[in-house]
Order: sequence, then C-alpha cells, then structure tokens
Amino acid sequence: MNILVIGSGGREHALVWKIKQSQKAGKVFCAPGNAGTANLARNVPIPADDIEGLARFAKENLVALTVVGPEGPLCDGIVDLFHEQGLTIFGPSKAAAQLEGSKDFMKNVVTSAQAPTAAYETHTIREEAVEALARFPNGVVVKADGLAAGKGVVVCDTKDDAVDAIDRMMGQMEFGAAGATVVLEEKLVGEEASVLVFCDGERYYMMPAAQDHKRIGDGDTGPNTGGMGAYSPAPVVTPEILQEIEKLIIEPVIKTMRGMGAPYRGVLYAGIMITAEGPKVLEFNCRFGDPECQPVMMRLKSDIVPLLAACAKGVLPVDPPEWDQRASVCVVMAAGGYPGPYQKGKTIWGLDQAATMKDVMVFHAGTKLDRQNVVTSGGRVLGVTSLGDSVAAAVELAYKAVGIISWEGAVYRTDIARRALSR
Ligand code: AMP
Ligand code: GLY
Repeated sequence: MNILVIGSGGREHALVWKIKQSQKAGKVFCAPGNAGTANLARNVPIPADDIEGLARFAKENLVALTVVGPEGPLCDGIVDLFHEQGLTIFGPSKAAAQLEGSKDFMKNVVTSAQAPTAAYETHTIREEAVEALARFPNGVVVKADGLAAGKGVVVCDTKDDAVDAIDRMMGQMEFGAAGATVVLEEKLVGEEASVLVFCDGERYYMMPAAQDHKRIGDGDTGPNTGGMGAYSPAPVVTPEILQEIEKLIIEPVIKTMRGMGAPYRGVLYAGIMITAEGPKVLEFNCRFGDPECQPVMMRLKSDIVPLLAACAKGVLPVDPPEWDQRASVCVVMAAGGYPGPYQKGKTIWGLDQAATMKDVMVFHAGTKLDRQNVVTSGGRVLGVTSLGDSVAAAVELAYKAVGIISWEGAVYRTDIARRALSR
C-alpha cells in the first residue's frame, strides 16, 4: 500500500525509516520531509498545515494510509477531513486532539477519568487568576490554554513570577488567543517520563517508557526546547509504575474519551511526573513525541504498518508490538543559537562515515539538500540514535557517532541519559 507521512522532523524520518522496512509498504511519501526522508521516500513539497492539499495528494496518489507527525494538522481537523473523503489516516479527530490543543479540556477529561493530576483552576479574567494564586501556596504553574509551540507553560517559584506570566498571557496576549484562557496548576515535584500508547479508540498497546531532555543546556539549564535528546527504556518507570500509569491514567482516559463521543485513535502521549505519591499526568500530546519517537522506533521489532493501519481503522488487536530489550539513546545536534535565532545553510560533514556504524541511525530534522551537500535548515538538525546492551553502552555509541559529525556552530548536550546512568 502507498503510505504518506506528514511532517519534516526527526520523528518523521524515524517513522519513514520504520515504515520502509515493512513488506506492506508500496510507495512511501513524506510531506514536506527533509534530506533524510528524501533518501528513503519521495518528498512532496506540501506543508504540513495545508490539509486540503494533503488530502488532494493522498487521493491522487492512491495513498492507503496517512500518518500524521505534528499536532498542528491534527488540531486543525486533518483526520476529520480525510474521513469525509473516505481516506484512511492515523491520528485523532479534531475533537480528540483537544487533549493536546486545550489544557482546560485535558484537565476536564483527566478529572472525569479520576486519573491523578495536579490540582488546577481555569480562568478567563486576569484579576480572578491573580486572586487565585493565593490558593497555590507551594508554587504554581501558569499555562496558556491553547497551543503555544511548547512555550505556553511557565513554572513559577514566586508569586511575582506568576503574576508576570498571567500578565504576559492575558494582558499582552503574548500567545494570542491561546493565552486568553489560563490554567493554573499546583507545582509537582518529581522526575518526568513520557509514556506513549497506540490506540484504536477502545483498545491499545503501551510502548516502553522514554525520557526527554527539554532544556538546551547540560544539567537541565537554560531555556526550553522541543527536546535535546531522549532515551528508552526510562528506568525511573519501573514495571510497577508502568502498570500504575496504565491502570490509573491510560485506561480510564481512553474510556472517558470514548464515553464523550470522541474516541481516541492514534498515539496518545502522556507526559507523567513520577511524584512521591505516585505517577501524575502533566500533559497529553496527540502524537508521537519528538525526539522520543526516534529511540522508540529503534526498539520496535515488529512491522509498524499493520499496527498503524489497525489503529486508524479501529480494529485492534493485531499481533502485539515486540520490543528490542536493548536500550536506545538519541542525542539531538542543533544549530548554534537554538532555541533563539540560529544560522542555516551550514554544510554537514561526517554523515557518510556515521552511516557505516552498526546500531546507529542518524535521523534528520532540520536538513535539506543543496546540490550534493546536506546542509542545515532548522534549529534541531539531527537525532543521532543508537542501540546498546545497556543505557551506558548506547550512550557511548551515540556520542561516538556525534563525534564524527560536524558543522559550523553545532551544539548538543553532553549529558543525555545521565539520570538513567546515575540510578
Ligand atoms: P506541559 O506542556 O504542560 O507538559 O508543560 C511543559 C513542562 O512544564 C513539563 O514537561 C514540565 O517540565 C513542566 N510542568 C508542567 N506542569 C507542571 C506541574 N504541574 N508541575 C511541575 N512542572 C510542570
Ligand atoms: N519531546 C516533547 C514533545 O514532542 O512534545
């Protein structure tokens, strides 16, 4: 069958790579893709947010399965549009994607499901939000209700910080309409993990837990990014904790969504804080995480296509996914300056040599072809991903590959998976 992957990051390169290994895959397209996906699939120059254009392309090219990477088109209703046109697509409907698209919606669902999460209040009036701060004496997190490209969450240590965050969202409208409503949340303390699940609306398969590294700098310092590295498994999520997450969070949330008439199909990504009182939901994303997708795809031994197709059609179970028992680590290499302004168009060296390394995959994110050269074109440029018999071995191998690759101004964290190593 012909398959279309939508997006252009490391996540999409990892998906295309995995899909290409399937006996079921016919032509594989990636829209718009990057220099890495161009090696495996046909890149199609349609932006991920042109959902009408993508539907037209899928029809014209007899695409039997479309897989959506980023949240934007999902929250814009790409799945509903494809369904209206009789096309099969992997991802949640617009209504179900509200789990990521609206923090207030998410908190309502989690509360109905009686799943553990931070105490919260939602406000649409600035003065009421400021008054409410008194009810969060142990620190508060101020969140813009809508999508804000990962920047709409401010973890506050003092009341002044919180008032400032509220003013930026509700007064200066820094995030536009997304910040007109704010969610105030009790600040949780613990270690974070990402748990991703394949869902068909009713049934599901858990993926092994992963951990992301959101800050730009070593030791979790500096501003937040899309993610500077990830690894799986995450030892903080013991088998007992994973089972608690499944029973207390995943299962009731999927059931609640179904009960609301918005059955959840696609990848449900739960951002979890492992607190002293047990796991609590921080957020839901309506898609694979990036970079988490990269180590998770490296560990998936089964054919992904029947799994994605069965979820998209609501007909699980199929053969349950089998996972490589080895550990996988992804180190993101970024352009100097990221997450602020950064330079583009730098020639990347060492990719051919890294490609010869066993158990290493260099997934591309912000890259493009400039004649014969691969050059940088985005903030996060590469996800250098490895497999190893232990997290330590995978870390060593990933950094060995990172050492071979270079371009002017490249930056990366040197402590990916250090938490797992210190356990
Ligand atoms: P979110 O997009 O809601 O996951 O928030 C982004 C990041 O903010 C999370 O990955 C956490 O590091 C942090 N965060 C969000 N909510 C809380 C909370 N209630 N307590 C502590 N940290 C939080
Ligand atoms: N790595 C976090 C995310 O994809 O949202």
